[in-house]
Amino acid sequence: MPFDHDIDLSPFNTLALPGQAARYLRVDKPAQLIDRAIADMPRFILGGGSNLVLTGDFDGLVLHMAIPGRRLLKEDAEAWYVEAGAGENWHDFVQWTLAQGWPGLENLSLIPGTVGAAPIQNIGAYGLEVGERFHSLTAWDFECGEFVSFGREACRFAYRDSLFKQEGWHLNGRLAITGVVFRLPKAWVPNTRYADVAQELAARDIAAPSPRDVAVAIIAIRQRKLPDPAITPNAGSFFHNPVVEAATAQALAERHPTLPRYPQPDGRVKLAAGWLIEQAGWKGKALGPVGMYEKQALVLVNRGGASGTDVQRTMQAVQADVQARFGVALHPEPIFV
Ligand code: FAD
Ligand code: EPU
Repeated sequence: MPFDHDIDLSPFNTLALPGQAARYLRVDKPAQLIDRAIADMPRFILGGGSNLVLTGDFDGLVLHMAIPGRRLLKEDAEAWYVEAGAGENWHDFVQWTLAQGWPGLENLSLIPGTVGAAPIQNIGAYGLEVGERFHSLTAWDFECGEFVSFGREACRFAYRDSLFKQEGWHLNGRLAITGVVFRLPKAWVPNTRYADVAQELAARDIAAPSPRDVAVAIIAIRQRKLPDPAITPNAGSFFHNPVVEAATAQALAERHPTLPRYPQPDGRVKLAAGWLIEQAGWKGKALGPVGMYEKQALVLVNRGGASGTDVQRTMQAVQADVQARFGVALHPEPIFV
């Protein structure tokens, strides 16, 4: 297999961080993965690069997943089953399903990246996680040398988490997801339980929204709040929203009555990292070229010319200040390469 060499990765990550891949292969067909030479090399599997921190050069092979394709696989009385190649752009795929008359993914409109990466951290937004619409995926397993399938249960989806984030799975480049099947139930009801969505629809005077109305509302909210990576490089939320014991949340709320708290099914409480970071004084503040976005404190932005080291410096300063002020640890969401 002929590889490209010394490829600049800065256009391939939305934080626009510098770094080179010693070897690089664009993967348009699953069959390209069946190559012993690839299995024997250190690998990194790249999608749209929208959840990455490049810490420097990568002295291995970058497999850039670009497998195209989208189709209705089957339908039954209850649902449509829609399949897409790992390299499809996520947002375009979601808008295409809506145009076909197969709703269900509209709350996940405008999330950057590829279809193949969506199950990795179980992407979520505005009251929906992709695991709720996931049916199965196919991947090449470099360790076993075969194509494997995973159903929904096997993926162990949780908040910004799945089997594939566990040690030994994709983080060492073991699995390359080639395609994903979604199950979109025919019985559709609008999901407007996220307060921002209900408010946006009310402001537009829409009482009985269509799937398209929900998508348009969510796109508008996201465009107001989140920086466009093409203009202001970023990787979306930089930290997970921390989930703490109920007693910890209660004690914090007594000292900070405006602290947003979201009770979880297991009795613990999710806190808003954006609020903690803003209260710690970091909203709009920067250390050198890396700061926290002025309209959404949870989004770390590259104001120009930053390196992976600059990102880590700001990240650690934010973590230290939030820890000192609230006693809460923040864990980064993106993957460090
Ligand atoms: P990459 O960044 O390229 O890779 C992410 C991880 O997935 C890496 O570990 C990579 O190795 C692995 N991977 C990628 N493709 C494959 C594959 N085919 N097979 C195996 N492993 C693979 N996320 C949310 O959950 N909700 C949001 O609302 C949200 N909003 C965002 C807003 C902005 C402005 C930005 C920049 C990011 C946002 N994100 C959000 C994060 C990001 O968009 C998602 O995590 C997305 O799924 C990453 O896709 P990607 O193709 O860019 O993956
Ligand atoms: N907040 C502040 N200050 C800020 C930012 C937020 O006080 O600067 C408060 C808000 O007022 C609100 C709460 O924090 O009370 C939550 O804010 P928001 O609705 O903007 O959502 P978030 O928790 O910051 C999460 C996801 C996003 C997702 C949105 C919508 C995580 C880590 N982030 O953000 O996902 O789009 O909810 O569902 O769970 C991503 O993962 O990259 C991402 C963008």
